[in-house]
Amino acid sequence: KTRVLTGITTTGTPHLGNYVGAIRPAITASRDPQVQSYYFLADFHALIKCHEPDRVAESRREIAATWLALGLDTDNAIFYRQSDVPEIPELTWLLTCVAAKGLMNRAHAYKAAVQENLDAGDRDPDAGITMGLYSYPILMAADILIFSQKQVAGREFGTTQVPVGRDQIQHIEMARDIGQRFNHIFGEEFFALPEAVVDEQVAVLNGLDGRKMSKSYNNTIPLFEPEKKFRKLINKIKTNSLEPGEPKDTEGCTLFQIYTAFASAAEVAEMRERYAAGIGWGEMKGVLFDYLNEQLRAPREEYQRLLADPAYVEAVLRKGAEKARAEATPFLDRLKRAVGLGHFI
Ligand code: TYM
Repeated sequence: KTRVLTGITTTGTPHLGNYVGAIRPAITASRDPQVQSYYFLADFHALIKCHEPDRVAESRREIAATWLALGLDTDNAIFYRQSDVPEIPELTWLLTCVAAKGLMNRAHAYKAAVQENLDAGDRDPDAGITMGLYSYPILMAADILIFSQKQVAGREFGTTQVPVGRDQIQHIEMARDIGQRFNHIFGEEFFALPEAVVDEQVAVLNGLDGRKMSKSYNNTIPLFEPEKKFRKLINKIKTNSLEPGEPKDTEGCTLFQIYTAFASAAEVAEMRERYAAGIGWGEMKGVLFDYLNEQLRAPREEYQRLLADPAYVEAVLRKGAEKARAEATPFLDRLKRAVGLGHFI
């Protein structure tokens, strides 16, 4: 079996970018009997960005309900909260002790935070940067590597595939680097090294302002926004000022890009022609809204139903954590022994 693993940070409400970049491919993979998939709510990661307990808690509930409403097969996939698997932070420490500090210095998220401080003038370059942000790639490496055991009961596994958006590729590479270092230092191939899987066609979805759709830019379109609000948001997507009847470029057009992420190849080809023929922005927004709304209506209803039934969702996640730990506990034991932390007898 191939392993597929991915996580989603539990801050904010899932948006179209998360869906296209992570959730949709993950759910498709979850239905494949040849694949063992691991999907989790990265709630320890949430603490890096958010110190508001209510928001963290709400986001976990929303994201869990989102995955379930979209049809995640939880019999086949292992679906859990990161914080329900204590082996993950334990492995984080083992990895922290082999990870190069220089590697962390090069992480995009950290570098961006430093740059922001430098741009702000005379501030300390590390002002406001927590160790959580700094060592985030190590926690992420542990998320992946804890389920990337190379040999299980005499059977050998290949690379763990990690479907992510382009922004996460560096983190996956760091996970490979750290895993390889651990293997090398402790002299055995404990970990099969992970690989990022990026859907090149829709790697990064843009948001309302045309920049990458991201919680941090505040330009997102939540996936399950009520219909009216959803229409309003689609209408807010930035366009150029060409009038109806003027031929339009599909390149760099957020409306077209989002449409492409949802429509079939034939529909996209047809839309190209309508752009060339000068479709008006108002009309295009209407088309996009109708198209997405049709696809999202049923899962949106299911999402509302699940939000109202936390006991059910809790039970699903606990079962997932049990399955996850059944693999993680013996593997972590083995790793602890390998570094000299086994039991005395
Ligand atoms: P996060 O929570 O920021 O995003 C979740 C996933 O959604 C993708 N994504 C997008 N894809 C396309 N277009 C966009 N506009 C867009 N915005 C976000 C992200 O690339 C990501 O795949 N560190 C991770 C979560 C994580 C993780 C892991 C992922 C923690 N541990 C282990 C994989 C494996 C993150 O912050 O993603």
